[in-house]
Amino acid sequence: MSPLEILRTRFGYSSFRLEQEAIIQSVLQRKDTFVLMPTGGGKSLCYQVPALLLDGLTVVISPLIALMKDQVDALRLNGVQAAYLNSTQSGAEQDAIITKVLSKEMKLLYLAPESSFFRRLGSFNVSLVAVDEAHCISHWGHDFRPEYLLLNQLKQTLPDVPVIALTATADKVTQRDIIEKLALRSPAVFVSSFNRANIRYTVEPKKRSFEKLLGFLETRKEESGIIYCLSRVATESLAADLAKEAFNVLPYHAGMEKEQRARHQEMFLRDDVKIMVATIAFGMGIDKSNVRYVVHMDLPKNIESYYQETGRAGRDGLESEALLYYTYADVSKMKKFVEIEGNAEQTRIYLKKLDQMATYGDLVTCRRQYLLNYFDEPAPSYCGNCDICLTQVEREEGTVQAQKVLSAVTRLQERFGTNYVIDVLRGSNSAKIMDDHRALKTFGVGADTSKEEWTSIIRDLLAQGYLAKSDGTYPVLKLTAKSAAVLRGAERVMLVRSKEKLPTPMMQVSEQSADYEAGLFMILKKVRTALAQEENVPPYVVLSDASLRELATYLPLDRASMRNISGFGELKVERYGPAFEDAIVRYCEENGMATRMHLKSPKRTSGRRDRPERPQRENETKQQTLDLFKAGHLPGDIAALRSLSVGTVENHLAYYVQYGKLSVEELVRPAKIATIQLAIEQVGGKMLAPIKEKLGAGFTYGEIKAVMAYLEFKATS
Ligand SMILES: Nc1ncnc2c1ncn2[C@@H]1O[C@H](COP(=O)(O)OP(=O)(O)OP(=O)(O)O)[C@@H](O)[C@H]1O
Ligand SMILES: [Mg+2]
Ligand SMILES: [Zn+2]
Repeated sequence: MSPLEILRTRFGYSSFRLEQEAIIQSVLQRKDTFVLMPTGGGKSLCYQVPALLLDGLTVVISPLIALMKDQVDALRLNGVQAAYLNSTQSGAEQDAIITKVLSKEMKLLYLAPESSFFRRLGSFNVSLVAVDEAHCISHWGHDFRPEYLLLNQLKQTLPDVPVIALTATADKVTQRDIIEKLALRSPAVFVSSFNRANIRYTVEPKKRSFEKLLGFLETRKEESGIIYCLSRVATESLAADLAKEAFNVLPYHAGMEKEQRARHQEMFLRDDVKIMVATIAFGMGIDKSNVRYVVHMDLPKNIESYYQETGRAGRDGLESEALLYYTYADVSKMKKFVEIEGNAEQTRIYLKKLDQMATYGDLVTCRRQYLLNYFDEPAPSYCGNCDICLTQVEREEGTVQAQKVLSAVTRLQERFGTNYVIDVLRGSNSAKIMDDHRALKTFGVGADTSKEEWTSIIRDLLAQGYLAKSDGTYPVLKLTAKSAAVLRGAERVMLVRSKEKLPTPMMQVSEQSADYEAGLFMILKKVRTALAQEENVPPYVVLSDASLRELATYLPLDRASMRNISGFGELKVERYGPAFEDAIVRYCEENGMATRMHLKSPKRTSGRRDRPERPQRENETKQQTLDLFKAGHLPGDIAALRSLSVGTVENHLAYYVQYGKLSVEELVRPAKIATIQLAIEQVGGKMLAPIKEKLGAGFTYGEIKAVMAYLEFKATS
């Protein structure tokens, strides 16, 4: 069997993502391999697929014992022989597993690095070792785990076995360090794009954040989310406050009883609880694919953590939110957390990382670009899916205000922080202000402007580089090379006057399958929960939300069609197919609907057109869209005129393209069509998000949908 056949029959996915295929080839050629791929990118398959093709055993080193079970369960449901060994098992359980390993029945074995079985690897007929979360081996990383250092023995224990190291977070230094510590031999290195196009990044001022949070959660009651807080106490009190507001929520932190912690995690994974309010102790290695949002109530320590924590949203590729409540005050608070006593060098590294995190909060440019650049990846200055890109900023002349600030900073000899500078500007009578400073010319020149306004002006000046902030525990404001020209009156400064949120056309609710049957989706979720209970696994291990959405979109009515739904491997079709099929058949009967599978598979054996009649109502609404379009209105206008989402309008237009009633060139510039077609072919499948991810910001979902429809038209005509 080929890797692709394994992917399709065992895992039920139609095509490889990102660089999965190339990575798998490298592993199969027995090369040491280093993989840097974002959270949720699909690293697991990079060793799971080879494991099924190699003769012997694949050993997976993974840091968290608690999560091994889920991974093994997920494999088991796909019919893969896998197990884990750890200290929580009885001697008899361990012996049973070892017997299976020795009899070569087992394909994958998960181990923690400190495991005592480590020494026995030599007798296990190992074909491949996968080191997951490999950044844990490096003190340059953000999550150093001393026990991972034991892995530097790996190449001595198993000199001829290829090693694949995988991580979602490693800068260049960490990368080199991992390769060196694991003693990889001229490894093939794969670095995927870090862009998670389906995650929208938003930062809001951390002021009345609880009320803001309530507003945010209000519209997301049915969704799963994680809310990160800095302290254990904070998780408990926030969880209690949210529970009072009738949210389905539990706390999680390392100070809780082990059993309670495990129970809370389990309830969250099983969708029995929607919101987990947690410290960063929660989440590593969790593959719950339907987390729709991640909120940070406090500033994370570094971009790596932030990126990894937010990356837990939207692993299924559906639209998700990353929301951070930010105030610069958090930076000083965090400093004591990142300091490592007696280790000035490590402290310096951590303080710098904290500073880079603070910069993210203060950005006035695209947040995605900053994140990607942080990981050394070039990125366009507009992503269309972060708060900055989605906000129209109006600026106005603010030179005089800027001069007041800069001159106060000068007269205070660049030795004071933001609050003091503002107090001087406003002529505060606080006892903190030194007498000398009351005599300054700038004392009180800004009394007509509020403290909040000065704060945002200073933030703006910092962001535009007219001011700088020193490092250290108590940062002070400093002049920069750009300050002098402003003070001289030789440069005009434009300050932010107002910000207006733009409508968010592209990423509104469920782009991938705007036409899915919401009622059926809810029914399918229930079916899934029942199956998961029988199997004693979390629901998403049975099937992801993305798979359920596909079911609710294309309405497969038999086992053969179900094979074409992403996530349905052979075993799952056989085991769970009937239950889902029953639900879909009943739903279609009750609602007078027919299957839409023909919309999914582009290849048809004959040119026969046996398209079912769609309900009349639906045709009328599409026709209205078409009429408006023909009359010269753009999709955005039509959406506004008809109170529809742009996604729906685009779907209407794509429908006519698919039936040959509208030319694709009317929707997509001809120069773009070939590029989009190529991306669709390379990515495979019908999910828009990965195709969009591949194409980048220069292309819209509407364009992709139109080209997809055009390809279907070509295939069937
Ligand atoms: N080729 C593919 N097609 C469809 N879905 C895929 C594909 N590859 C992986 N997935 C799905 O993507 C999700 C994330 O994959 P995986 O758990 O391997 O992520 P990861 O890269 O290990 O992330 P993390 O760094 O958080 O551990 C899983 O639900 C997986 O089934
Ligand atoms: Mg992983
Ligand atoms: Zn952006």
